[in-house]
Amino acid sequence: MAQSRLQYLASYLHPHRQHVILGIGTLLLVNILSVWIPLIIGDVVERLKITFSPGTIVRYVGLILALATVMWAIRMASRVLIFGVGRKVEFDLKQRIFEHLLSLEPAYFAENTIGDLINRATSDVDNIRRLLGFAVLSLANTFFAYCLTMPAMLRINVRLTLVALAIYPIMMLLVGSFSNRLRQEQLDVQQSLSDLSTLIQEDMSGIGLIKIYAQETNEQQAFSQRNNNLLDANLSLARTRNTLFPLLGGLASLSLAIILALGARNIAAGTLAVGDFVTLLLYVNNLVFPTALLGFTITSYQRGEVSVDRIEAIFKAQPKVASVEGARALPVSEVKGRLQATGLTYQYPDTTTPAIQNVSFTIEPGETVALVGPIGSGKSTLAKALPRILEIPTGQLFIDGHDITQVTLPDLRRAIAFVPQDSFLFSTKVKNNLRYGLPLAEMPEIEQAAKLAQMRGEILNFPKQYDTLVGERGITLSGGQRQRTALGRALLIDAPI
Ligand SMILES: Nc1ncnc2c1ncn2[C@@H]1O[C@H](COP(=O)(O)OP(=O)(O)OP(=O)(O)O)[C@@H](O)[C@H]1O
Ligand SMILES: [Mg+2]
Repeated sequence: MAQSRLQYLASYLHPHRQHVILGIGTLLLVNILSVWIPLIIGDVVERLKITFSPGTIVRYVGLILALATVMWAIRMASRVLIFGVGRKVEFDLKQRIFEHLLSLEPAYFAENTIGDLINRATSDVDNIRRLLGFAVLSLANTFFAYCLTMPAMLRINVRLTLVALAIYPIMMLLVGSFSNRLRQEQLDVQQSLSDLSTLIQEDMSGIGLIKIYAQETNEQQAFSQRNNNLLDANLSLARTRNTLFPLLGGLASLSLAIILALGARNIAAGTLAVGDFVTLLLYVNNLVFPTALLGFTITSYQRGEVSVDRIEAIFKAQPKVASVEGARALPVSEVKGRLQATGLTYQYPDTTTPAIQNVSFTIEPGETVALVGPIGSGKSTLAKALPRILEIPTGQLFIDGHDITQVTLPDLRRAIAFVPQDSFLFSTKVKNNLRYGLPLAEMPEIEQAAKLAQMRGEILNFPKQYDTLVGERGITLSGGQRQRTALGRALLIDAPI
C-alpha cells in the first residue's frame, strides 16, 4: 500500500529521531519553566500587598531573572536541535534525489525538464525542511503548553480560564479560513518564480540565436511580463499575511481585555487574589503564541504535502534498464567483441512505428562497420541499443554469444566505447574531459588518446594546453574540437567494442 504523506514525513525524520526526542525533551523543560515563572511573579505581587521589603523584591527579581535566563538557554538549545534536524533531512533528501536521478536513464530526463527537477531538489526540499523543523517544534510546544498551563490556569479560576480559552478556537478558525488563500498565493509565487527562471535559463543558453534573429526587445518584454507576474504574486501574498497577523494580534488583545474586565470584578468581590490574577494573565499570554503557531503549522503542512508528492514522484520512477537477477559477469578482459543481432526491433515509448525493425547482422571482432542511411532512419537508435541505453527486448542482441540483456550492466557498458552524436563536455579542464571514463589515467595515456583523435595539435595551441578550461557545454571549443575531444575520451578507455 502506498505510504501516506505523514508516513513519508515520519520516515524522513526517523534517522534523526534521537535529536528529535532530545529537542522535544528540552521543550518540555522550557514549558515547565514557563508555568513556574508566572507563579513566582504572582507570589511577589501577593507579598507586595502585605509589606514592601526591597530585600525580598531583589531576591525575587534575581530568581526570576535566573530562571528566565535558563529558559532562554534551553529554548535556544531546543531550536538548534530541532531546526538542525530539518537541515539534516534536507541534506538526506538532496543526497537521495541526486543518487536516484543518476540511476535513471536519459529517457526520464526527456520527459521531465531539468528546470523542474532542479526546483524539486531545491525549493521542494526546502519546503519540507521548513515544515519538519517548524512543525515538530510548534506541535510539541503547543502540546506541552496546553498540558502544563491549562491545569495551572484551571486551578486559579475555572470561569476565567474558559473565557480566556474561548478565543483560541476563533483564532484557529481565522487561520484556517485564510489557509486556502495563503496556499494558493504561495503556489502562484512558486509558479511565477519557476516561469521566470525557465526564461532566464533558456535565453542565456540561446543568447546567440536571440542576437542572430535580433529578438532582444521581444525577449525583454517577455521577461518583464513574467517579472511583473512574480511581483503581483508576491504582493498579494504579503497582503494576505499582513491582514492575518494583525487580526490575530487584535484577537489576543481582545481576549486579554475581557479577562481584565471580568477579573477586576472578581477581585473587587474578593473571590480572586491579585497575585493569582497576574499569574493567569501571564499564562494567557503564554498560550497565545503557540496557538497562533499551530494555525501556521497547519498551513505549512498543506504546502509541505505538495512538496512531498513532488519529491516522492522522483523516487517512484524506477530505472527501466538494470542488471537482471543472476546476470552474467563479463569481465572486459574476456570480451572478444563479436556482435550479433537477430530480428532486432525497437520502438520508442509513445510512438506508433518502430525506430528499428527486424534488423539482423553479425560483426566479427576486429571488423569495422559503417552504417549509413537517411536522417531519422534509426542509426543512432541502433548504436544506443548496444550498451542498453534503451530498453531492448531479450533474445535479439548478443555480445560474444551472450544475450546483452543477461549480462551485468556495468560489464556490458565497460566493453563498449561510445561517442554520441552530440558531444557533451563537462565544464572542467580538457584533460579531465579526456579521461572522464578512466579518471586515474595519467598524462601519457591522455596524450595518446588526444593524438589518436587528431586533437593533440589543437590542444597544444590552447593557452593552457591540457589544463585549458572547457566552458559550460564546451563553449570555448569549436564544434569539431568538441567532437574530437569526445572521440579522444572514447578512445582512452580502450574498450573491445
Ligand atoms: N527519444 C526518442 N523518443 C521517441 N522517438 C525517438 C527518440 N529518439 C529518436 N526517435 C525517433 O526514432 C527515429 C530514429 O531516430 P535516430 O536518432 O535513430 O535516427 P538517425 O538515423 O540517427 O538519424 P540522424 O541521421 O538524423 O542522426 C526517428 O524517427 C526519431 O524521431
Ligand atoms: Mg543519429
